[in-house]
Amino acid sequence: MMAEKGGYKHFMHKEIWEQPRAIADTLRGRMLLSEGDVHFDTWNLSTEQVKSFTKITILACGTSWHSGVAGKHMIESLARIPVEVELASEFRYRDPIVEKSHLVIAISQSGETADTLGAFKEAKRLGAHTLAICNVIGSAMTRESDLHILTNAGPEIGVASTKAFTTQLVTLYLLAVKLGRMRGSLSVEAAQEHLTHLAQVPKMIEDVLKCEPQVKRVAREFMNAQDFLFLGRGPMHPVALEGALKLKEISYIHAEGYAGGEMKHGPIALIDEKMPVVIIAPKNPHVAYEKIIGNIEEVRARGGKVIAVLDEDDTQADSLADHVIRIPSACALLAPVVATIPLQLLAYHVAEMRGNDVDQPRNLAKSVTVE
Ligand code: AGP
Repeated sequence: MMAEKGGYKHFMHKEIWEQPRAIADTLRGRMLLSEGDVHFDTWNLSTEQVKSFTKITILACGTSWHSGVAGKHMIESLARIPVEVELASEFRYRDPIVEKSHLVIAISQSGETADTLGAFKEAKRLGAHTLAICNVIGSAMTRESDLHILTNAGPEIGVASTKAFTTQLVTLYLLAVKLGRMRGSLSVEAAQEHLTHLAQVPKMIEDVLKCEPQVKRVAREFMNAQDFLFLGRGPMHPVALEGALKLKEISYIHAEGYAGGEMKHGPIALIDEKMPVVIIAPKNPHVAYEKIIGNIEEVRARGGKVIAVLDEDDTQADSLADHVIRIPSACALLAPVVATIPLQLLAYHVAEMRGNDVDQPRNLAKSVTVE
């Protein structure tokens, strides 16, 4: 068993460390740098079809839904088409508006999640064009869809999703570039720039994994906390949601993820000296950096403990935080991939220090095949 885990104590830890390789596999053969284009070998949509889409709806659950929220930022920004992200478990029960001009994307690691599959089939029945982004070849969603794209993360055994999430983000970024080129919103040069950024991601993940000793110190200090708050703005909002979900799933500590601007609308009442707040604040305009620094100050003023995830060269915010975790600077839409890694490690080490069954947390299944 230890051999299967490649010397790691848990599959989750192994899968966190596999991410540079997994992301390289997601990218392999798909980036046409000289043409400024993306190649998916399953792609079957014509330029006319892609230009005719009036809206994209993303359907997913849990972690895959978080990648959908990040994907909305990517697709809207690069392909200039409106994107709605729906909880698949809600979609079918509210008489959704689906038209033939809509592209409906299901995101699922397993490709078998009952809620997502049910919603996806309903969207297809109502006439939408369907695209599945899955990690498992031959899964129900890949079979049900008009088009599928594999994330190529390799098998994910740990119930808490890690490499499936970051490879979904990278797949969505590739898709955003592809749609942007086909719809004419991205020039060849702009696409080349995006692809150049993408090509750097595996190395960036290797670099960010070096933060593990620092994350372990934070985990030790807060392993007995009762609650955690995670804050992020713009593309970092889904990262905050994912950080909170990961911690809940395996450490059983109550955690909430919030968009930074929402803190003053309620959660600020929870802040006291017992509350650790993880604030994801890479320095780029999409995340309203000055505003998220304001969040750090608001938490500190109320005695809360700030764990800030900051760019490696950020010297402005580090004196404000109780703990700083450094990440390599990435462009705004790719920063979620990088910033997620320390939060996965935080959840892992807190759960491990608490003696929990990390790979098979209580009450959870890897694939939820009942509604
Ligand atoms: C992730 O850590 C969770 N275990 C869970 O939220 C999961 O992402 C969700 O059930 C969706 O699964 P899927 O991606 O296989 O559809």
